[in-house]
Amino acid sequence: QKNGYRFFMEKEIYEQSDVVSDCMLGRVKNNSINFDEIDESILDGINEIKICACGTSYHASMAATYLFERLSKVKCNVEVASEFRYKEPLLTNDTLFIVVSQSGETADTLEALKMAKNAGLKTLVICNVDNSSMTRVADATILTRAGIEKGVASTKAFSTQAIVLWMLSLYFAKIKNSISHDLIKKEINAIIQVPKVLIVENKLHEKTRRLSKRYLHGHGFFFIGRDVFYPLAIEGALKLKEISYLHAEGYPAGEMKHGPIALADPELFTIALMPKNTLYDKVKSNVEELSARDSTICSISPLEFELSDDFIKTNDRDHYMLEFFEMLVVLQLLSMEISIRLGNDVDMPRNLAKSVTVE
Ligand code: M6R
Repeated sequence: QKNGYRFFMEKEIYEQSDVVSDCMLGRVKNNSINFDEIDESILDGINEIKICACGTSYHASMAATYLFERLSKVKCNVEVASEFRYKEPLLTNDTLFIVVSQSGETADTLEALKMAKNAGLKTLVICNVDNSSMTRVADATILTRAGIEKGVASTKAFSTQAIVLWMLSLYFAKIKNSISHDLIKKEINAIIQVPKVLIVENKLHEKTRRLSKRYLHGHGFFFIGRDVFYPLAIEGALKLKEISYLHAEGYPAGEMKHGPIALADPELFTIALMPKNTLYDKVKSNVEELSARDSTICSISPLEFELSDDFIKTNDRDHYMLEFFEMLVVLQLLSMEISIRLGNDVDMPRNLAKSVTVE
């Protein structure tokens, strides 16, 4: 049932446009965001949002912290569930506790959810599997409607989580009246373009396939970005690690000079996320520093950057989140093409299971 695709991962990358459309169905209408499964009273008495998740779901949650603070104007932080469980966290009932999970079964995330519930917090799960353990524990559930994801490396689960979290930040913004109607309208206008942005263009896929042959060796990769492109960079690095077994790290672009830049040389590959709509000049100067130390640079951007060794040109978009979704697809394709060239089993990487139900 790979429908002609070489791997389930490839099929699932190509499905993202459709599943994100499904995920938005009934939730975006008349310039407004609605979630029938939750109630506006969900924010009553809430001053803070805390998110817990693992792996790719944690990266989607990290991106959400920017959106909840920027749009909903609610304090928001995120923690890896395995750390949260044992740190003896202070839990107060003015906190909305959100867990994000594809499977709804990840042991650490499930235990974090139970801890919050037992402490009397309001809980919400954003999950792809109905009737999973987490949906049975949480007070409320939002399903991501991604369909079954077979590839161990998560793709469409991430894009549906990201769209739900973006929609939720606007739903909260509406309840709290925290931003203008004009801004809400502008955001929704961008949201409805996401399915189109996620359609994989042949020329883009071909570009990542051709480029992949230059990125098979070397002593490591740094994926760098700022703002929501920082969590996206970490997600790109995780994808590459999982299926290519190459060492890759995601880093906030502005942090490179605080240590990691010491590693720069021609065998260090920098994958630079350089969106037009967010902090372009700041990232550019961070990449210039790496280029001056001879790192091999592959920039992903709508704007050509003269110091790049390789350049993947994305489309000119007018909202940073549209650039986020387009760059996500580029990163997924690039890691898949590198893995294929290395002869790995893309769908069943060594040492990994789809769902981590033990601690
Ligand atoms: O089912 P979950 O979303 O709770 O799973 C969390 C992680 O185990 C998962 O995202 C993992 O990191 C993936 N293999 C990433 O591709």
